[in-house]
Amino acid sequence: MQSIGPYTLRNNLFLAPMVGVCDAPFREICSQQGAGITVAEMLPSSKELWEKERLRLRQVKAEVSSPQVIQIAGSDPGIMAQCARHNAELGADAIDINMGCPAKKVMKKAAGSALLRDTDLVERILRAVVAAVDIPVTLKIRTGWCPESRNGVEVAKIAEDCGIQLLTVHGRTRECRFKGAVEYDTIAAIKQAVGIPIVANGDIDSPERAQHVLRHTGADALMIGRGAQGSPWIFRQIERFLKDGSHLPTPSAQERHEVAVSHLQKLHAFYGEHRGALYARKHVNGYAEGLEGAREFMQAFNAATEAQHQLDLVDAFFQKAIANSESTARGIAA
Ligand SMILES: Cc1cc2nc3c(=O)[nH]c(=O)nc-3n(C[C@H](O)[C@H](O)[C@H](O)COP(=O)(O)O)c2cc1C
Repeated sequence: MQSIGPYTLRNNLFLAPMVGVCDAPFREICSQQGAGITVAEMLPSSKELWEKERLRLRQVKAEVSSPQVIQIAGSDPGIMAQCARHNAELGADAIDINMGCPAKKVMKKAAGSALLRDTDLVERILRAVVAAVDIPVTLKIRTGWCPESRNGVEVAKIAEDCGIQLLTVHGRTRECRFKGAVEYDTIAAIKQAVGIPIVANGDIDSPERAQHVLRHTGADALMIGRGAQGSPWIFRQIERFLKDGSHLPTPSAQERHEVAVSHLQKLHAFYGEHRGALYARKHVNGYAEGLEGAREFMQAFNAATEAQHQLDLVDAFFQKAIANSESTARGIAA
């Protein structure tokens, strides 16, 4: 699968929506690093909330060449339809409906994965949203409500019948939250049961794992979440491995430096210098990981509140790492 509705994608690798992580800056970085498509952070389908600055930033914003996918969550079919229409008007290229999130805040409103228990409501929501917009509507679910009630196949059939164009399945039930091993058998069963493209999701953190999940499930595409945080290059690495079985080298200190600086600049520009500096903390750790002095660097970085100070710390840390790697390379050559 290299397309969704009318859109052709670079590859079949999706960046998962993750609240607090997959903002426009991170989606742009992941796109540059090979993600075929990225999904924005979930947007609650309540009109008063859309106007809030924090949530306005989750709507169409990212400068990516791939389609802009906005994810919505809620439990009222009419309001969900309105939310989808509003985002289509803002320029979204596709709407993803979240029925996979176990977050307490979302569950309290019987949205996210809570909906999987009520398949009549699932159907009403899907029909309302599909009818409301002219752009593709996709759906993200878990395999079911709890291990005893894995109704993913039933929900997938409903989705196909309602005109959903692509279905992502996280291989855990709602009750499992993020604990326990992910299971891919239900995803394989869903793939067998419906004709729409299936995206397999859950614990994909390496090229080998990606290949295993594709083979095991027969899915058309893969979605990667936590594995990309701090390692956005995982998309290029998986893309290469799936293409010809070879491994790209681990990104050099120089490459990490370039990604870190670009990401920081985007965050500072997007949120403003102070908030951008706070958000940067959850990303930069991964860029420094494994390099000499990473711990001390992160302590200093996390204490920095000014954008320029963060950039200076990153420059100093990576310049040292680059010099170290050059002297190691000279040592090997000598
Ligand atoms: C911090 C965090 C935030 C998340 N936010 C969302 C969200 O907004 N919408 C959604 O459908 N799933 C959300 N998820 C679930 C992910 O999209 C994904 O299904 C899950 O992390 C499993 O994939 P992974 O093992 O590759 O991370 C979130 C997960 C995490 C860790």
